[in-house]
Amino acid sequence: MSFQFRPFSRKQQMALHWWEKGSGHERCRMMLADGAIRSGKTVAMILSFLRWSLKTYRGQCFILAGVTSGALRRNVLEPMLSMLETLGIPYVWKRAEAAVLIGGNTYYLFGADKDNAQDRLQGLTAAGAFADEAALFPRSFVDQMIGRCSVEGSRIFLNCNPNGAYHYIKTDFIDRAEEIGLYRLHFTMEDNLTLSPAIRESYARSFTGVFYRQYILGEWVSAEGAVYPMWDDTENTYDETGPEMYEGMRRFCAVDYGTVNPCVFLDARDDGHTYRIAKEYYWDSRAARRQKTDAQYAEDLDAFLGGDRDTQIIIDPSAASLRVEMKNRGYRVLNAVNEVREGIAVTGVLIGSRQVLAERSRCPQLLREMHSYVWDDRARLRGEEKPLKERDHAMDALRYLCHTKTDRFRLP
Ligand SMILES: Nc1ncnc2c1ncn2[C@@H]1O[C@H](COP(=O)(O)OP(=O)(O)O)[C@@H](O)[C@H]1O
Ligand SMILES: [Mg+2]
Repeated sequence: MSFQFRPFSRKQQMALHWWEKGSGHERCRMMLADGAIRSGKTVAMILSFLRWSLKTYRGQCFILAGVTSGALRRNVLEPMLSMLETLGIPYVWKRAEAAVLIGGNTYYLFGADKDNAQDRLQGLTAAGAFADEAALFPRSFVDQMIGRCSVEGSRIFLNCNPNGAYHYIKTDFIDRAEEIGLYRLHFTMEDNLTLSPAIRESYARSFTGVFYRQYILGEWVSAEGAVYPMWDDTENTYDETGPEMYEGMRRFCAVDYGTVNPCVFLDARDDGHTYRIAKEYYWDSRAARRQKTDAQYAEDLDAFLGGDRDTQIIIDPSAASLRVEMKNRGYRVLNAVNEVREGIAVTGVLIGSRQVLAERSRCPQLLREMHSYVWDDRARLRGEEKPLKERDHAMDALRYLCHTKTDRFRLP
């Protein structure tokens, strides 16, 4: 597959040429492209990194890092190999070693999420590193990656979407750019000339609140207060008029599993546009002073669904044995996608566009949690963005439903 190069925007050109003599920034050792999603950061940076490394070195090692090895292959390796095809530069892809040989250099692939990635890094002496979506890496990985670049003239290329205001990339890289020799380029969607205004619009509509500011405006801002401030008790609820109102709708059941902690089931009806949470099950073993076994939960879940085996159960990935119980009972069971940030972003959009509704009197715990579900202030000051882990069980189940069953997004 070859890569169809299209004209590069001015910002992309700056990312392409910063390391060249006369750019005015060549004395910087690091460069960071941050800003809006789909703004052309990764594409420009891959080409820049390739050109720089091939022009400057032979027989050296380089680091290519992504959040996970899957994300790295999709977002970096695939476009990179197709660019090489287009440019007529030969390469050898060594799958077993997770490495690519190009022009006498070796480019090693790393998923920053793997515990052994840092051990593998440790043995390496590199002439450069490329980190895609670096704000989602553990800081120790970024530090170590930079530390491995000890060859004379080495350079580090980083890109990311913005995160919280106290994130280390903001406080220790961007805010100290001059001191640490970092060239920073801030991207907006206008810097990607291949996006039509209609596509830009549809991305903008996919996010609300803090995610809109981070992913669309490209601001480093923290999430504070309510996680779902767009929830409205009137607009996001409905009264069931009778079971026939769900006729023809698909049925899902989202499960947040807990033995010591509460266990929640949400009965969701889907007409292809809107999820209606028809009722909830909430078992709090602490309050009840009695824990339930997985067999008892399976019994309860079966009863909760009235034995309707056309229901697809979307379950907490940690609940392995309940999953088996339900499969044995003839239900279709799917592991929930458990990616908190992205899941909250998707759920927030659906709530804001009133594509998630809860039955007014049958989901009391869901409604309570909705109003007490807030971002964690202490974690924010440490630079982490996550909700407070308190009374978040129905919230987790709702997120599993929205994130697992919504393809890219059901755009409002
Ligand atoms: N100069 C270009 N030539 C061809 N396609 C481009 C170019 N710049 C951006 N694109 C397209 O835009 C998409 C988004 O760019 P990307 O660099 O992945 O954005 P970001 O990393 O900022 O999210 C790419 O997948 C590619 O299809
Ligand atoms: Mg990218």
